Amino acid sequence: MRVVRSVAELRIAVKAMREQGLRIGFVPTMGYLHEGHAALIRQSANRCDATVVSIYVNPTQFGPTEDLAKYPQDLEADQNLCLRLGVSLLFLPDTQEMYPSNFQTFIEPGRVAEPLCGKYRPGHFRGVATVVAKLFNMVQPDLAFFGQKDLQQTAVVKRMVRDLNLAVDIAVVPTIRETDGLAMSSRNVYLTPEERRRALSISLALFSAESAFRAGERDAPRLQALVQECLWGVDVLQYCELVDAQSLETIVGQVDRSAALCVAAFVGSTRLIDNILLNPHPEAQGILGVGVSQ
Ligand code: PAF
Repeated sequence: MRVVRSVAELRIAVKAMREQGLRIGFVPTMGYLHEGHAALIRQSANRCDATVVSIYVNPTQFGPTEDLAKYPQDLEADQNLCLRLGVSLLFLPDTQEMYPSNFQTFIEPGRVAEPLCGKYRPGHFRGVATVVAKLFNMVQPDLAFFGQKDLQQTAVVKRMVRDLNLAVDIAVVPTIRETDGLAMSSRNVYLTPEERRRALSISLALFSAESAFRAGERDAPRLQALVQECLWGVDVLQYCELVDAQSLETIVGQVDRSAALCVAAFVGSTRLIDNILLNPHPEAQGILGVGVSQ
């Protein structure tokens, strides 16, 4: 596995891969890798000839009161995991490399970035879209992999790829969970054991709505209420929304198209998000699926 820190070195390494005719998969991350990231890397390894992973804690996607300064890091463990998973190229830029002085150009996502997390994290998706576009331009991957846990991020990135005609396909990989159901997240490390127990109520609440949906419940307010009733462990609920899985617009009335039930909540001082997909027509191929969209 080659480790590079500058865009210049990255470009040379990527060019060499291209010249060998390799199909390049890309997994952008902020490090502190867990099984969720491993699933993305494995998918890339299965579907591409070479995998590039980036680790960069992107300051432009953090609000002034968020956890940028304390975001967890363990570069040695991350490098070992990437090595074990057969990553070809690990890109570790610093902020001088990503945002040289006088940087002033950003990508402004549209409506898709407004609801859900967009309401509570102003500027977050502008930062995500900007850094992802920059990374795409640097790596020029054929296929890039994102986790379904960050549902709105996947929608913003897909919209950007379409709107700006970026030459990359986006694959969305299902959420990986702890054995008890908690969605994997680098931020889970912030939870005390007691908070960890309470955090579980988020996934369990979503699973209960999923069971009701499977049993035939299609009424959006009732499904939403079911989740809310089960969120006994959270301290502050930011949102619990049933949305169209593509546009992220709120579904009122019946769930008659692919939908997602999305929750963001604080447990102690840790902000957690999770979602489940509800598909009334499962026979039609997965909406976000492990599929590829362009
Ligand atoms: O999902 C993440 O870890 C980040 O938002 C990403 C896509 C690496 C951009 O910084």
